[in-house]
Amino acid sequence: MDTRNEMLRLIRARRDGFSLEQPFYTDPDFFKLDMELIWYRDWLFVGHDCEIVKPGSFFTVQIGSYPIVLVRDREGRIRAFHNSCRHRGSRVCTVDKGVSARLVCPYHQWTYDLDGKLLFARQMAEGFDRNDYGLKPVACESAGGYIFVCLADQPADFAPFRRMMEPYFLPHRLTEAKVAFESTIVEKGNWKLVWENNRECYHCAGNHPELCKTFPEAPIATGVNGAESDPEMLAHWARCEAAGLPSRFAIDTAGQYRATRAPLLRDSVSYTMSGKPAVARKLSDSVNADRIGSLLLYHYPTTWNHVLGDHAITFRVLPISADETAVTTKWLVHKDAVEGVDYDLAELTHVWTETNDQDRRIVEENAFGIKSPAYEPGPYSEEHEGGVTQFVEWYTNFIEPRLAEGEPHALRSVA
Ligand code: FES
Ligand code: FE
Repeated sequence: MDTRNEMLRLIRARRDGFSLEQPFYTDPDFFKLDMELIWYRDWLFVGHDCEIVKPGSFFTVQIGSYPIVLVRDREGRIRAFHNSCRHRGSRVCTVDKGVSARLVCPYHQWTYDLDGKLLFARQMAEGFDRNDYGLKPVACESAGGYIFVCLADQPADFAPFRRMMEPYFLPHRLTEAKVAFESTIVEKGNWKLVWENNRECYHCAGNHPELCKTFPEAPIATGVNGAESDPEMLAHWARCEAAGLPSRFAIDTAGQYRATRAPLLRDSVSYTMSGKPAVARKLSDSVNADRIGSLLLYHYPTTWNHVLGDHAITFRVLPISADETAVTTKWLVHKDAVEGVDYDLAELTHVWTETNDQDRRIVEENAFGIKSPAYEPGPYSEEHEGGVTQFVEWYTNFIEPRLAEGEPHALRSVA
């Protein structure tokens, strides 16, 4: 039986409320299907508008097999291209980020304009037409300061995400922020384990002493139910909405993205050991309220976010292999906030640097144990792991029709 059918069979035989069967977390062929059917087809968060402010500024990102470059063109538009030279395929931009008036391939110096057009190619034969060899574009959109790309030939409509999410993001003016610090860690675990861990705080009390000083472990914000009747959430939403900040749960029908604003513990306003702001200058001049808690916003499969009053922490998940995942964290502050004056970098990054490392260890131990032949799917806690159940249901519901698209596959295996 081929992998596609095996995956389909396991999804259809799956016990609700239980973790997935082993191959979903370990099998390289299952991983290939995840990449083909989800990662190479859907909108993926790659970085922020504020990272490429000037014309010619660019950053690169690797999505599975695809090297991509994001660049701000001369008109101020953000563009994405396949980072593969149209001469013989070399990577054109070979560094993580930079600024360049043109994109010059280091191999034979074919030179591209910021809109991808090929400008120069030395000593090619008569009749060679530069217009035939521009960099291949990749679909690219930005919403609220977040840049997304989609590798599909016909990307899904991005507008519903923008419509739902921009009102949450815009007051925080992340397009005008700056990245104070970023880190990338590689977790030795499947990307779905990274997400499962993120979507619950059942593990928080036992693992995250720093985060638990300010972030509530109660499941109201990680789950999908219960918040609407929680008096603390209702009071928090009312307070934030009075200050012009959309706060109530917004979730799309497929369950792929969601936003809500959750209060922090007691009088905390930021993820610091004291609960006090890490940055003296507020993230956004248009937010005129204190104690706004954290805007929790995710978009499967690439990003979850915490937007606070004084800074924002954004996360990007990119799979490397069946059992390795890169997690990039960025700390965004007001563009005029000065390190050493408005914030101390060690203090700003302490809680989430520790939390990320704790989560990395948890995910790696989870992955280790799942490799055991004795592993079998186990039950999620209904009270604490509603968010994990929601993630796994999104995943299975999302990939199942795509697996079934190859109907001849299914027929072949039955025959
Ligand atoms: Fe890029 Fe030759 S491969 S110039
Ligand atoms: Fe955690």
